[in-house]
Amino acid sequence: MAHRSENSEPLSERRLDVRNWNDLLHIDGAKENVYIFHFDTETPYSLTETDDISFNTERFFSKLSDECVICFIVSSENALNLIPRFQKSLFFKLWISIRRDKPVVRECELPNNHIGLVIFTKYKTSLAHCKTRIAYTCCPACKKTTKDYGGKKHLYSPYGTLMSDVWRDITYQPDIFPSGIIERLRDLFGLPPYKIVNYIDLRQLTGSKYDRNAEKKDVAKNFAIADPGESRLVNADCFKAFKEMPDNSVDFAFADPPYNIKKKYQNWDDAIDIREYFRWCDKWLDELARIVRPGRTVAVINIPLWLVRHFQHIKYKLDFQSWITWEALGLPVRKIMPAHYCILCMSKGKARGAVGVTEKINWDTRYLELNMLKQWYCNRKSCANLRNSAKITDREALTDLWWDIHRLKHNSNRVDHPCQLPPQLMRRLIALYTLEGECVLDPFNGAGTTTLVARELGRRFIGFELSENYHKIALDRHHDLESGADPFAKRKCTPDAKNSRVKRLKKQKYAVPKKTLQLEVKRIAGQIGRVPTREDVKKHSKHPFSYYEEYFADWGEVCSAVGDKGMKEESDTEYEEPGHKQLALFERLGKYELKSARLREFS
Ligand SMILES: C[S@@+](CC[C@H](N)C(=O)[O-])C[C@H]1O[C@@H](n2cnc3c(N)ncnc32)[C@H](O)[C@@H]1O
Repeated sequence: MAHRSENSEPLSERRLDVRNWNDLLHIDGAKENVYIFHFDTETPYSLTETDDISFNTERFFSKLSDECVICFIVSSENALNLIPRFQKSLFFKLWISIRRDKPVVRECELPNNHIGLVIFTKYKTSLAHCKTRIAYTCCPACKKTTKDYGGKKHLYSPYGTLMSDVWRDITYQPDIFPSGIIERLRDLFGLPPYKIVNYIDLRQLTGSKYDRNAEKKDVAKNFAIADPGESRLVNADCFKAFKEMPDNSVDFAFADPPYNIKKKYQNWDDAIDIREYFRWCDKWLDELARIVRPGRTVAVINIPLWLVRHFQHIKYKLDFQSWITWEALGLPVRKIMPAHYCILCMSKGKARGAVGVTEKINWDTRYLELNMLKQWYCNRKSCANLRNSAKITDREALTDLWWDIHRLKHNSNRVDHPCQLPPQLMRRLIALYTLEGECVLDPFNGAGTTTLVARELGRRFIGFELSENYHKIALDRHHDLESGADPFAKRKCTPDAKNSRVKRLKKQKYAVPKKTLQLEVKRIAGQIGRVPTREDVKKHSKHPFSYYEEYFADWGEVCSAVGDKGMKEESDTEYEEPGHKQLALFERLGKYELKSARLREFS
């Protein structure tokens, strides 16, 4: 067990025997409890089966008291259909992605390496749970800590980092009792009013005989393929630009739309009525489905719940291909850190699939993106170089769970756009779903990440962008690329489009790392028995006091490590998978659907 929850009284556990749906209705003690429904995760359900499941479970949910939490262990694909049905009687709170013990290999597609733990409540208010940390992990090569979620303060806990909504430290095995998950939930919900964790194994009742692939039509033959035309960047509203696009013309359509989370775009109000927002999304999704070639992929990136909504609309036109979990290393803004973005990949009729996988070009160095960094290895350049020269195998086959691409920080040295995607993410997607010479369309091209990467990889590209400024940024970067410069190189400017309200100092070189200075202040605090003043630090620190003045925004930041017993900067033991346990505190959070999305910072 690799977690520790604060102030938790672990709940007791009860396994309920359910052999048919009627048994479910005879379960008593439905008060103030946590329920875990374990569905079959290995087969996709038909819509009829989904209806059947929701009809039978809903009768049970209606008996539960308002204090209950209901968790579902379910495949991501099935969750996409089940969530809207359960939302009729329950409140959606969280989608946690859990790594599989072994990826499931699928023909022509990315292996599936995660399942969902979807959490609902009977109560409307935010999810009540204990604050939970998972043990720090250290890079097997350099022994330094693997994770750094932007904000540093929470890294000073003696035990570990705040848990996020992607769990890779415990794994899921489909055929056995999920003891690791249950144990974590017993601690996570170890506070009043919860009493017992009830585990209900529905795998036998929910396994499906449905062959999804049999229904997929090979529509490729039925349509004339059109030429999308020359590569271009278009400064226009996408709906105007769509009119110029022939049906069945592009090989990959990718959308990173505004999420309606109050980002400060130049020409776009990112806080419109949510129904209006989704009506707008439905329209561009329809357009992408029209324009993409049969057998090819439309991919949309967003937070899980928004993608559930997109899926509900577009599933009648496109077929499910993959649900990629991108652990984007979020900010520690909530007790369960939102690190989890998803990419919904849908194909038009029978999918050609992820050609990057099927073409077996994985080991071609041009396509390094088609391999993953092995679990727990770090992204530090210096360490990667050493691993390379020492010929350490630090990469493994790509699956649909990505943890090795960091989100972009937008606070310094970037072009002036508030939410750019990392080029590595786009390299991986484009190399996965297209071949050289094929055409990529991005209707929300922003600062041009998609089209630049497409160009780098020898693909044709079409990018639409509403804002004149962002369009110009993209154009300039394309010029950089054509003239041999790196369009993603850091800039000597601080953009206006900052997302963080945290006061920052100008980027500078540090003679001693800030973390070392903060840990030194913590040491001094231990020595003198209180939070050190400036005078104390002047007197006791082995580092020049000027560093403390120059490197930190304020004295609070200098002292931010004080109060915890403290992490070490490097592991001094041999590398081990994390393995401890315990627990945390309790605070109310905002309603998931809107607040969490708003709290979530992409940068
Ligand atoms: C999330 S950002 C995309 C960022 C992009 N992926 C990048 O890496 O730079 C969404 C973009 O969509 C643009 N946008 C919003 N509405 C649009 C519309 N109707 N047509 C075209 N672009 C639009 C916004 O100006 C913004 O730049």
